[in-house]
Amino acid sequence: MRQIRIGLIGLGTVGSGVVRILRDQAALIDQQTGLSFKIVGAAVANLDRERAGDLQRIPLVAHVSELINDPSIDVIVEVMGQVKKAKALISAALKGGKHVVTANKDLIAQSGNELAQLAVDNHVMLRYEASVAGGIPILQTLRTVYTADPVNEIAGILNGTTNFILTQMDSQNWSYDQALQAARDKGFAESDPTNDVDGFDAAFKLGILTKIAFGLSVSQSQIEITGIRGIAVADVRAARTSGYELKLVAMAKRTSAGLQLSVAPMVIQEDRPLAKIQNENNAVWVKSANIGTALYVGPGAGQLPTGNSVVTDLVQVGKAIRHRDPAEPFALKRVADLPSIIPG
Ligand code: HSE
Repeated sequence: MRQIRIGLIGLGTVGSGVVRILRDQAALIDQQTGLSFKIVGAAVANLDRERAGDLQRIPLVAHVSELINDPSIDVIVEVMGQVKKAKALISAALKGGKHVVTANKDLIAQSGNELAQLAVDNHVMLRYEASVAGGIPILQTLRTVYTADPVNEIAGILNGTTNFILTQMDSQNWSYDQALQAARDKGFAESDPTNDVDGFDAAFKLGILTKIAFGLSVSQSQIEITGIRGIAVADVRAARTSGYELKLVAMAKRTSAGLQLSVAPMVIQEDRPLAKIQNENNAVWVKSANIGTALYVGPGAGQLPTGNSVVTDLVQVGKAIRHRDPAEPFALKRVADLPSIIPG
């Protein structure tokens, strides 16, 4: 069995989700892929911080360079957030011939092209499924299902924190501040939730979707951005009593004048699909030439859903590593283990 060796940067909500999935689902991953994943070490900001028992077995390192310079490590997983520092670390890892998986939407939205080129130049993979819509495999879907199906429009609820806040203001009659605190307690919000509530987080994700769905790189200044700060319970209730739901919607639409891009609170008729998306769930509605319209729904934040997207990227990287490794062809040994389904 090919073992894929991982250096983890960050052991917060998403990082601990990755650790748990790789541990709890090791047998399933082996059965499905013939690969095993080992976290060689995790770089954390605070070595002394108290960690849950199952995380204590992960060897901690104080300096990321210990992971990047470790020749036994195949792939670096960056789940610490921050832009400047993460960019430097990911660049160093790619230049050092390591594959990289990241959940860092701010960084990919701002420097995705540059990092992707660096990956190409160094013959390694850069993947970032977890950067958009948490547990929904939307990037993989856009890259595969829409290969021959031109996308005309995308409308999405791309920020779990704001959707959670708006849902709770309505259903629990919580104030904006109460609902925001609950989103922070549940680990949905960023450590500084400004980007969530002011719409920038959704705009970063919209930028990444736009690149993949339309093949166009956009900067944040090309997106009209309005957040939900200042929205009161009365606004949410007033929308509802008139048969609408108030949602923070990110849109990218092909028009004769070019691509129109926006993130803004919108009232949506209650019978429309996006109106029904509750709490931290996200949704991406895609209109395309062949399929017509399709809706992809799932959790937009949280330890295991987002961790799962990181793990699916790791599996893709692992398969690519094995494919390139002539000494370790994927033997279909598991087929022999399966009970025969042909009677007699
Ligand atoms: N703060 C983000 C959100 C986390 O609420 O959607 C997932 O990107």
